[in-house]
Amino acid sequence: MSNPIIECRDLTKTFSSSAEVLCILDRANFAMKRGQICTILGPSGSGKSTFLAILGSLERFDSGDVHVDGYDLSSLSEKSLSMFRRNIVGFVFQFHFLLNDFTALENVALPSYVAGTPKNEAWDRARRLLDMVGLGKRLDHFPSQLSGGERQRVAVARALINSPSIVLADEPTGNLDASSAKELRSLLQNLPESAGTTLLIVTHDPDLAAIGGSSYLLKGGRFECIK
Ligand SMILES: Nc1ncnc2c1ncn2[C@@H]1O[C@H](COP(=O)(O)OP(=O)(O)OP(=O)(O)O)[C@@H](O)[C@H]1O
Ligand SMILES: [Mg+2]
Repeated sequence: MSNPIIECRDLTKTFSSSAEVLCILDRANFAMKRGQICTILGPSGSGKSTFLAILGSLERFDSGDVHVDGYDLSSLSEKSLSMFRRNIVGFVFQFHFLLNDFTALENVALPSYVAGTPKNEAWDRARRLLDMVGLGKRLDHFPSQLSGGERQRVAVARALINSPSIVLADEPTGNLDASSAKELRSLLQNLPESAGTTLLIVTHDPDLAAIGGSSYLLKGGRFECIK
């Protein structure tokens, strides 16, 4: 594949307990192109969230090669890993994980401010991103004053604040009603163009899975290309 943003070879991940060893990823291969949307489907417990956590370097793996945006995840120092988590990947989860005591604007701006961006710059960019996700008039709302769909859009803006190379989304519509899910779907679908990012989405929702230029099924520890 030319210019892949993610490349995994022979990726193996197990979870061990005293009773058993669970092999979640079994010499799995996976690749996706920059600037694309790729979706992953798979039965509950097949390892989809674990895979995203590995790509975001939140979870270790047993063996194999994992390259994300040119970074070899098995050889990064702790310092490089925290830079990687902060600047290379953005996360959107099923539950928004917004900070309840902060406004939408603060929730989006803070990861940039914490990373060392001057306050004005961080706040300006957060305003632009909230505008992009259709919440330009909700900047000062707290999470409790936003609908579920609006909170997820704030979470998308927050994921984009440090201009990540790739956004990893784990069941982003899993908690939304049909019309909010539809809105989020079109927002996500436009992200490669509007935010210049690449998007990897794990979902059970066939409508969301359909926005992927490529789609994979994770089953038995391996990826099967279905589109
Ligand atoms: N920290 C852990 N320790 C032990 N087992 C774990 C751990 N995290 C996940 N697992 C197991 O690994 C398997 C894969 O979990 P994962 O959450 O990746 O599945 P999933 O495909 O995301 O499922 P779902 O669609 O329900 O979200 C499950 O059997 C789960 O119980
Ligand atoms: Mg999951």
